[in-house]
Amino acid sequence: MRQKNLLFIAMILSFGISACGKGGDSAGGSKSADAGGGKMIEFVATQDEKPLQIKSELFDTPQAKEFAATGKNPYIGNQEAIEKGKKYFQMYSCTQCHGANAQGQTGPSLHGPNFKYAKNATNKGMFETIWHGTNGGMGAKGIGLMSPEDPTAGLKPDEILKIQAWIRSHGTTTGNE
Ligand code: HEC
Repeated sequence: MRQKNLLFIAMILSFGISACGKGGDSAGGSKSADAGGGKMIEFVATQDEKPLQIKSELFDTPQAKEFAATGKNPYIGNQEAIEKGKKYFQMYSCTQCHGANAQGQTGPSLHGPNFKYAKNATNKGMFETIWHGTNGGMGAKGIGLMSPEDPTAGLKPDEILKIQAWIRSHGTTTGNE
């Protein structure tokens, strides 16, 4: 009887392990950015190039996962994403400092191809700047970083990628070069 039980447990365990190997993140698990065997690239702060700790589960769409793995923004040129990005750019008051068309106001123009911080020519670099801010008047806009009182305030990675698609639609480079 006892042996039978053990056998049963062993069967369940081995089934569980093989299911995990295949399933990846299909259950919405915390390893989402590792889905498909891909690793998450390292993001660094624009201020000091120190590594940023961004929870992998925040990359919660296929496009955001692709970005986490490659640093390339799959929304560039996607009209639907560009329109959403424009809305987020207004909702999060980017317009107040960068102008309605990101042409520059009190904050710099975001059209490129030359940026105050050269890294913003790439989508990875610009993502890091929007997520964690700079020391020169650009606040962190990443979720959990925007307001010390409200951990739910701020942009999710997927939303930042859409803003970026809108910003890049004004420039001559895609940022994925
Ligand atoms: C309170 C004003 C303010 C708001 C709001 C603001 N920014 Fe900025 N932003 C700035 C300033 C000022 C700089 C220049 C920072 C520096 O010199 O360090 C900047 C820099 C940047 C840069 C880097 C530009 C470069 O040339 O390197 C990007 C990208 C950017 N902002 C995107 C955004 C986005 C997207 C939003 C909205 C989610 C936003 N900003 C909201 C003021 C603002």
